[in-house]
Amino acid sequence: MKTIYLDYAAATPVDPRVLAAMQPYFTERFFNPSANYLAAENVRKSLEAARAKVADVLGARPSEIIFTAGGTEANNLAIHGVMKKFPNGDLIVSAVEHESVLAPAGQYKFKLASVTADGRVDIAKLLKQIDEHTVLVSVMYANNEVGTIQPIRQLSQELQVIRRARQKIGNRLPLYLHTDACQAANYLDLHVSRLGVDLMTLNGGKIYGPKQSGALYVSSHVQLEPLILGGGQERGLRSGTENVAAIIGFAEALNHGQSLRRSETERLSNLQKLFFDLLGSQIPKAVINGSLKTCLPNNVHLTLPGQDNERLLFALDEAGIQAAAGSACSTSSEEPSHVLRAMGVSTVDAQSSLRLTMGRHTTAADIRRVVKTLSSLV
Ligand SMILES: Cc1ncc(COP(=O)(O)O)c(C=O)c1O
Repeated sequence: MKTIYLDYAAATPVDPRVLAAMQPYFTERFFNPSANYLAAENVRKSLEAARAKVADVLGARPSEIIFTAGGTEANNLAIHGVMKKFPNGDLIVSAVEHESVLAPAGQYKFKLASVTADGRVDIAKLLKQIDEHTVLVSVMYANNEVGTIQPIRQLSQELQVIRRARQKIGNRLPLYLHTDACQAANYLDLHVSRLGVDLMTLNGGKIYGPKQSGALYVSSHVQLEPLILGGGQERGLRSGTENVAAIIGFAEALNHGQSLRRSETERLSNLQKLFFDLLGSQIPKAVINGSLKTCLPNNVHLTLPGQDNERLLFALDEAGIQAAAGSACSTSSEEPSHVLRAMGVSTVDAQSSLRLTMGRHTTAADIRRVVKTLSSLV
């Protein structure tokens, strides 16, 4: 029996072409890119070509790409980096951010922006929370649990109005917009000026690249304090000998993912629709969480009233189906995830929720088998 993997939001397998691109950098091209002989300089050139590739996808300058060891580090660099530079400032983060945004934000004067029942940030309320000391707003591009896509472009346009008003009254404090795009990179437009963001987090582990790879886009006008001090690599913002293989793999994964973006979005949207239709006919009491209108095409997050998600996950695993709980808790007696809580989902419903995230290897036959199995279990 084929195992059906439906946890692509947690991890993606490394694409064979990504692996092939990385391979030489572990062996014959192992050189430190800062060394002075020709072989090392060639590695430096490959590293800079990878940076240019990432910048190209983002419509950014190569110097605006800072490679990091994954999304958590990029989020920490964005939040701590800005807040340490502007110690008298405060920040606003959405209530549904990943812990790697919420935890660093918690060390400063911060406000939580609330979301509506479908997980979308309430922009009107967020704007009211901004005061003359606000230096940073961080709202993720798409949510890792329920897949809701946030209105980043609209938010950036509103922030631009506030920036102009600040200029008029002589308030020179910047107002930066950061977005965590870890879950969005396979499916959404990453062009930073179209989005209007100043900082953007990406990681490789969700886009068929290696784990602990990623980048922070830092617009050239953004002022940031480094967190990791040392040899001054990555424009002094992230010291340490570059993980060349991971960087090469990340750039290849991002580029390849973007070339598949439209076709995969269409294919997965069809599978998502099939999933919803089958749920509607075979498990009519299933409730779909998140936004039906603005959702990542690979995410199905549902509540099965009266069911215990831990029991379901175990039974699914036994049936060869790997999925995740709708909540981050490891046992059903624990608190529901902060995302579901922010959306107003009750503890009981959160404990009856599942997150099923599809990817490149998911087929219609898989979805049929999953719904049939779920239906027999409930
Ligand atoms: C939205 C989001 N941000 C950040 C992260 C953290 O990324 P990483 O595991 O690469 O540190 C994840 C991964 O779980 C994520 O889904």
